[in-house]
Amino acid sequence: MKPINVGLLGIGIVGGGTWDVLNRNADEIQRRAGRAIRISVVADKDRAKADSIVKGKAKVVADAFEVVRGSEVEIVVELIGGYTVAKDLVMEAIGHGKHVVTANKALLATHGNEIFAAAQKKGVMVAFEAAVAGGVPIIKAVREGLTANRIEWIAGIINGTSNFILSEMRDKGIAFAEALKDAQARGYAEADPTFDIEGVDAAHKLTILSALAFGIPMQFEKCFREGIQKLTKADIRYAEELGYRIKLLGITKKTNQGIELRVHPTLVPARRLIANVEGVMNGILVKGDAVGPTLYYGAGAGSQPTASAVVADLVDVTRLITADPEQRVPHLAFQPDQLSSERVLGMEEVETACYLRMRVQDKPGVLADIARTLADGRISIEAMVQKEPGEGEPQVDIVLLTNRAIERDVNRAIARIEKLPTVVGAVTRIRLEQLL
Ligand code: HSE
Repeated sequence: MKPINVGLLGIGIVGGGTWDVLNRNADEIQRRAGRAIRISVVADKDRAKADSIVKGKAKVVADAFEVVRGSEVEIVVELIGGYTVAKDLVMEAIGHGKHVVTANKALLATHGNEIFAAAQKKGVMVAFEAAVAGGVPIIKAVREGLTANRIEWIAGIINGTSNFILSEMRDKGIAFAEALKDAQARGYAEADPTFDIEGVDAAHKLTILSALAFGIPMQFEKCFREGIQKLTKADIRYAEELGYRIKLLGITKKTNQGIELRVHPTLVPARRLIANVEGVMNGILVKGDAVGPTLYYGAGAGSQPTASAVVADLVDVTRLITADPEQRVPHLAFQPDQLSSERVLGMEEVETACYLRMRVQDKPGVLADIARTLADGRISIEAMVQKEPGEGEPQVDIVLLTNRAIERDVNRAIARIEKLPTVVGAVTRIRLEQLL
């Protein structure tokens, strides 16, 4: 059979890895796909760099639109990133009847509904395994491997940079700013590191996972986000003393009230496998009603791991290209006319347990006042630690773990505690999940 021609848009870190893996494993890939997969044209603004990688084995152009408009390729691989030019390129490629493979989580989380609708209309595939958790085949697992299940919830460490920062803070006892510098020096952080540390990147990925798990449209704007930038060494240490680790988790859960969609630092029991996912690695727990909890672990970024996912998509598209479009695996796991309009809950409606830390005057009655305020808000205390004051220190830290309570009630109780004359400054709240 004739080789299938691919146009590669962007030959940077992931594009270079894709070129490398496709060439190095060409024979194995052909045996699996049933025909050779060949990058026939590469578009990159830096033509000299592209030439030095492809060494005459593919045509190199500077203008990516030339590739999506031309007749040469059947599959376009978009590895440019962002959601301006990348969106125009993907939409034009679809418009010209080309299949698309992309690693662009930001693009899909924000414009996925439009992109998938256009692809459906044109009968082309848009494959995106590399968009979530790099080399970990989580899209395939949720969309196909777990297709028998009602998915109950997903909780994932899906941003390697923030996980690296939290691991460094715990291992080395260093502050957030120092750990961030370290992550940047190692080249882990996104071009704009706020995307990593403020949970934007994780929210993009979680939006995609939630759509796949529950058959809902992408709703990035409804995803609650809290980053890791305010976590202190003390919180990490206290959590550890109570038997927990703090992880930036993306959590999506189906409840009787609606769907939870939230990214925030979370206390997780230290004995859970996911609590031991360290450094830049990713780990995603998926709970299905039939299978129970399943865990997927691996490299969430990097040239070759991400290329592994891009090339897997190329093989999938190559295998399915001749299949009847109606019979292909649906882009978002559920048939496009079967998407649900189930509500995404506001964060105030979500129920979680909490870690609360507050600094108080070391005086009689302080603890009683705090406990009464929580009780008035129907919030039950699960555990409590009061740290001994340092020599001559008039203030102490109190750390409480609460039972599960509605966020709105916890917000009210925190506001009241902060008004107590014996409480100094703000209360730190970190949500807690048992993940059972
Ligand atoms: N910046 C991302 C991370 C890389 O740290 O996980 C891939 O999405």
